[in-house]
Amino acid sequence: MREINRYLVTAALPYANGPLHIGHLAGAYLSADIYSRYLRLTGQDVAFICGSDEHGAAITIKALQENKEPQEIVDTYHALFQDTFQKMGISFDKYHRTSAELHHQTSQDFFRELHKRGEFIEKESEQYYDPIAKQFLADRYIKGTCPKCSHDSAYGDQCEKCGSALSPTELINPESTLSEGKPELRTTTHWFLPLDKYEGWLNEWINKGTVDGEQLHFPEEWKNHVLGQCRSWLDNGLHPRAMTRDLSWGVDVPQEIPGAEGKKLYVWLDAPIGYISATKEWAAENDKNWEDYWKSEDSALIHFIGKDNIVFHCLIFPSILKAHEGYVLPYNVPANQFMNLEGDKISTSRNWAIWVHEYLEDMPDKQDELRYALAKNMPELKDSEFTWKGFQDANNNELVNNLANFINRVVVLTNKYYDGAVPDFDEDTSFIGPEGEESLPAFHDSELVRLNDNLLDYRQQMCKFDFRGGLKTLMLISSQGNQILQANEPWKLIKEDEEAVKPIMNLMLQYLKVLAVGMRPFLPFSADKMMTLLNLPAITEEGELNAIGESLCEGELIVPVAHKIGTPSHLFSRIDDEVIKAQVEKLEATKVASTPSATPAAPLKSTVQFDDFMKMDLRAATIIEAKKVKKADKLLELTLDVGFEKRTVVSGIAQHFSPEEALGQQVTLLANLAPRKIRGVESQGMILMAENGDGSLKFIQPTEGTENGSSIS
Ligand code: 2FM
Ligand code: ZN
Repeated sequence: MREINRYLVTAALPYANGPLHIGHLAGAYLSADIYSRYLRLTGQDVAFICGSDEHGAAITIKALQENKEPQEIVDTYHALFQDTFQKMGISFDKYHRTSAELHHQTSQDFFRELHKRGEFIEKESEQYYDPIAKQFLADRYIKGTCPKCSHDSAYGDQCEKCGSALSPTELINPESTLSEGKPELRTTTHWFLPLDKYEGWLNEWINKGTVDGEQLHFPEEWKNHVLGQCRSWLDNGLHPRAMTRDLSWGVDVPQEIPGAEGKKLYVWLDAPIGYISATKEWAAENDKNWEDYWKSEDSALIHFIGKDNIVFHCLIFPSILKAHEGYVLPYNVPANQFMNLEGDKISTSRNWAIWVHEYLEDMPDKQDELRYALAKNMPELKDSEFTWKGFQDANNNELVNNLANFINRVVVLTNKYYDGAVPDFDEDTSFIGPEGEESLPAFHDSELVRLNDNLLDYRQQMCKFDFRGGLKTLMLISSQGNQILQANEPWKLIKEDEEAVKPIMNLMLQYLKVLAVGMRPFLPFSADKMMTLLNLPAITEEGELNAIGESLCEGELIVPVAHKIGTPSHLFSRIDDEVIKAQVEKLEATKVASTPSATPAAPLKSTVQFDDFMKMDLRAATIIEAKKVKKADKLLELTLDVGFEKRTVVSGIAQHFSPEEALGQQVTLLANLAPRKIRGVESQGMILMAENGDGSLKFIQPTEGTENGSSIS
């Protein structure tokens, strides 16, 4: 296996067509920031890269709606993004933009090289053209009736009512959103990337982590839902994908290529190349060599994204990189699932979102509080939920009652008893441990070992992208500190035996430093305040975790005896019910009402006896694989993890959920339904769904924290 000496961490380039909401933060940016900061704390060489995605229909549609030029739109949101990210403490080394000249050149060079190598196939196809607006229409510029649910305003790529993925030619009565006229099919030529040709090596790379037998990464280190989605795309077969579009806004296809006139690069070709142009710009500004990060075998490329971007980062961009040759392939793509809000999907069109810039206006000094609430609930493996009540509880019960309380007690008592100087102590003095253990001589030593063990757990979790776990371990350290104080009651003990208090307070100060450094990736602003409380130098994220780990291993103190700490000041404060109520009211008041259901609820079925109901064995299970059943538009074949075993279930949900959307969802399984064969596949149970008045389906999901296999009654 290759040795890793540097990391290139990327976070998905956000479309510059609207502000950022908490789902964006929880999806890619916060996790990428936590990981980058963690790597720097462990002394790694890191480039943390992002930028605004300023091309594609997302931008031009917004410009059209607002009657502005696309450039004006992207300038506005690029500036807003920079400000929001900076205020939230997202520590990009470079935040670039795809309208930059350097990016246009870089992506054109890429296209040129692929063209020169004969990687593209040039293909004619029929596409909708608006004769009034005189342009070909991107999928989003065509509206019509959904062939699946008859909704009359479905887009050319998707019906937002029933969620079906569509292609423009499937729409009934298509209409151009530019002129409202009827579009006509015209022939156009584009350059396609033959993804079908790459299926062989992609399969090997995804499933074994090897290319031509060379181990590039370990698939077992990738998240299951990421692998599952890739396998599902590969199982369903890849198709050539057009890498150019007939558009007026975007990166020009290099003009010397015959037929390039009027053609732009497909946004999903240009956007990921944005990671490369951003790295080039950063390297030029910092006396670094960008190729060390992109072209050197000892560099690990890590993409942080939301689950809707998996196929682009795990199959399409790697195909582009490999076709070009010379570039590293992603080492890991730790995609997150989605964060819902107060029981519903976050939605820009329905304005069901907490906009980060508005949060910052309402609570300008509570960045870490939001970071904490999002991180503890990050949708790392499955969708999660943000509620204002949960935010308040996390702040009041965990940050205030646990962490700030512990730190404050230690700083106050150290100032009170020792005038702020870290006390020396007799190594053989015993005291009571966090679990109320018997007093032992040299207890201080063994408690330092415990602290170091916790720190090692934290490090392991952080390396595995288990940030929720890492944060939990830090909060455990804080809880153990509180327990030690509670069990020994130094405020009483000081009156009976002054010497006995010294090792306790000394140990607690060591805890405090571990918390300050360990919390830095999660709570960067508060970590700085903790270091000030300790009167220690500010954290620069240059290997500090290694330094404290090495000292603890040697049994050495990380805050030395006689060091004078700072004076107490508050880290976090309680958030009152009124503040939360105002936020919930704002959310409700500003939401755009969705069309009420016209269909009455289905009539009730006839009564069943209790005993009959009790015969049903309902279990929590997670969908770990999902694929379409051949020649059956309604069916998905699902593999479920039921905790104690795996099950195959064929479910009639394919018109409501794509395999990618179903993957990772936790569901309720009727586990003792007699198996039956459906389209040649044995279905071993049934998953429960709710049907809304508009015909859309929702999974009946066990509440957060339910383990697979748990019975539901
Ligand atoms: O989904 C999105 O918001 C895209 N703008 C992400 C692009 S990621 C990368 F490829 F640039
Ligand atoms: Zn539909």
